[in-house]
Amino acid sequence: MEATSADREQWGSRIGFVLAAAGSAIGLGNIWRFPYLAGEGGGGAFVLIYLLCVVLIGMPYLYAELSLGRNSQRNPVGAIKSITGGGSAWILVGGFCVLAGFVILSYYSVVAGWAVGYAVKDIIAPTMGFQEFAASPGMVIALLGVFLLLTFLVVVGGVEEGIERWAKILLPILLVLILLIIFRAVTLDGALEGLTFYLVPDFSAITFDLVIAALGQAFFTLSLGMGAMITYGSYLPKREDIAISGAYVVVFNTLIALMAGLMIFPAIFAMGADPEAGPALVFVVLPKVFAQMPLGGLVSVLFFLLLSIAALTSSISLLEVVVSYFVDEQQWSRQKSVWLIGGVVFLMAIPSALSQGASGAFSDMSYLFGESGLFGQNNFLGILDYLIGTAGCGGPTLPPTSWWRGAVS
Ligand code: TRP
Repeated sequence: MEATSADREQWGSRIGFVLAAAGSAIGLGNIWRFPYLAGEGGGGAFVLIYLLCVVLIGMPYLYAELSLGRNSQRNPVGAIKSITGGGSAWILVGGFCVLAGFVILSYYSVVAGWAVGYAVKDIIAPTMGFQEFAASPGMVIALLGVFLLLTFLVVVGGVEEGIERWAKILLPILLVLILLIIFRAVTLDGALEGLTFYLVPDFSAITFDLVIAALGQAFFTLSLGMGAMITYGSYLPKREDIAISGAYVVVFNTLIALMAGLMIFPAIFAMGADPEAGPALVFVVLPKVFAQMPLGGLVSVLFFLLLSIAALTSSISLLEVVVSYFVDEQQWSRQKSVWLIGGVVFLMAIPSALSQGASGAFSDMSYLFGESGLFGQNNFLGILDYLIGTAGCGGPTLPPTSWWRGAVS
């Protein structure tokens, strides 16, 4: 028997839904991935193409996911069943979403665990460089555990009392933190050069690769292609108008990404660091920048706290996709779904956590895939990420290049 709509959870308010969906969208994608892609992609030129992709392609896709969820009042599998009538191969797309939610959550939480660790780094590992930190097995697994536990505790609270309540608390904190850091960054001597790099497009930098990277980022940042927005849409009342709410989600998400650039580029240029450091930008370059600037210790703590909060409101949505499937389709209780799925995610995440130097078997898998790796990836996390993020339902999401190795070099 399927749960009837009367039993199904719903958001408590429109603003609660907007904040929860914005929380899903705003994540590592905005604060870590967007700035480094912009840094590599010539600054303003990338930003411009990214904005076009968000508005022209991301936004209609977001409306499609939200309305599919809202109209079917179901998880991604149930939603696709409801429009295809069951026996269709399209169900596989829904199933793939649920599976992808699992896999993304496993490695996203590893990176999020690093962010948590860096927020308290002065206490837990004051002298470690990033490479040593990411290769310490006890450390990365414990941090992964802490981050996942926070995710579970929010999701187990339910749609309104868990996800919505925490979005209402965490997003305002995130906004305050980001404003504080921007204020510090733009008042540094030499900040203007960073602002120019970031905001003034150099049209000659626009290449095919840049457009693909910008398109992938538009999907990733709006949490599209993996059923997250189908799931969040499914907790809206059937008659809810999504035109305005969806637009708010896009606007908030875009503002936070733009603000992330506003805090990072002025600081990087003012301190003479390299904006093209790639994925290592946030974990390797920024700590060096913070170390040189007045009040840098405090800014560093605030920054990684910001990154952890942003990651948490996104990991919640990834877990909720999977939970909603088990609740709707398998009639599991929310409690049982969260702890069982959570346990599996934690186990699945261990190889990713160990893949940055802690375990040779997961860090360099050339014994399986040869020297050039699978899709150019040689560590477990990089391979998963390519399979799901790039070949996955949303098309290109995370970069196919060997960025996870880049992150620790
Ligand atoms: N949008 C989030 C970010 O920018 C990541 C994320 C959350 C996501 N849920 C998703 C990405 C679903 C793809 C699909 O960090």
